[in-house]
Amino acid sequence: NYYAVIMAGGIGSRFWPISRSAHPKQFIDILGTGKTLIQTTYERFLKIVPAENIYIVTNENYVALVKEQLPEIDESQILGEPVMRNTAPCVAYASHKINMLNPEASIVVAPSDHLILNPERFIADIQNSLEAASRNNCLITLGIKPSRPDTGYGYIQFTEETLDNDFHKVKTFTEKPNLELAKTFVQSGEFLWNAGIFVWSAKSIIQAFEQYLPEMNDTFKDGAKSFNTDNEHSFIQNAYYQCTNISIDYGIMEKADNVYILPTDFGWSDLGTWASVYELADKDYLGNAVIPPDRVIMYDSSNCMVNVPKGKLVILQGLDDYIVVEANNTLMICHKDKEQSVKQIVADVKSKF
Ligand code: GDD
Ligand code: MG
Repeated sequence: NYYAVIMAGGIGSRFWPISRSAHPKQFIDILGTGKTLIQTTYERFLKIVPAENIYIVTNENYVALVKEQLPEIDESQILGEPVMRNTAPCVAYASHKINMLNPEASIVVAPSDHLILNPERFIADIQNSLEAASRNNCLITLGIKPSRPDTGYGYIQFTEETLDNDFHKVKTFTEKPNLELAKTFVQSGEFLWNAGIFVWSAKSIIQAFEQYLPEMNDTFKDGAKSFNTDNEHSFIQNAYYQCTNISIDYGIMEKADNVYILPTDFGWSDLGTWASVYELADKDYLGNAVIPPDRVIMYDSSNCMVNVPKGKLVILQGLDDYIVVEANNTLMICHKDKEQSVKQIVADVKSKF
């Protein structure tokens, strides 16, 4: 009765110029491991749920990429979205689809583009959560100890009250707080980051949609009769345009009162920025990271992160704390401290060229 839903429809704009809207981060081997992030994610879930119970939800423009990178997966398990509406519609669609096949299903929903350094711990945590979710009417999320006041995450405060020993009742869930608030949260020591990995039964999540996003729920509930027929495609085409653009975090997790968190630590990174990749990459004694380890010569350079196409010869002299990335005929050299501006850079490039 266990299922996995991999969300793979985002565009990863902070990883420009490697990540592009035509080829986003989840389809890239960003760490030079020989596998793309979605391939690694899929392989992790194969150890937890049967292959035929793994669904990928992605933009229809990326369906071909999914097929290319995961050729073993059946076409019926790739759910294409006609338009980006963030993660709530993605979860609603997959939940109703799975619920129709198996109303007793328990589902793990996860991003396609995260790094997990300790997969054994991750697998044990997800198995534990799936069991708990199958027995209780609750929404489970995994929580990671915060290391900085990052405003890109959800922050969760929990109580001592537990469910099945390991799962703590959530008191507050604040998605993407401002910097002031994020600082207070981290200093208090009472908050965990939401890892964006959720576990629940099909019943519990559909009940939450009924309560907090009823229109979206009605849309997919009504359409469920078309699922696995020739009409599914045309139904989805219309349905998505009716959906509001909202994430599962804002739409449901902030509001629901049956949320539980499993505090854990499995070497998690959401690979949100180049600096986060730099933190994890192998570095030489001067702190330089080169991915893939290739033809780079450095003089008087330290703490740089270099990522260029294989075979490219790169020479750096006197550079400290820089990101040097080349991809798609674009070269970007950006100070590490300023990398939050990559989103702005992308916007400027789009308006100028
Ligand atoms: N299918 C589909 N459709 N997938 C999507 C869409 C969509 O419209 N939008 C985003 N995704 C996918 C992304 O590819 C990613 O794998 C995942 O859903 C999460 O989306 P992000 O856009 O990366 O979310 P976030 O990073 O801003 O915030 C979430 O993750 C944080 C941890 O990394 C939230 O859950 C936060 O609370 C959490 O802390
Ligand atoms: Mg993310």
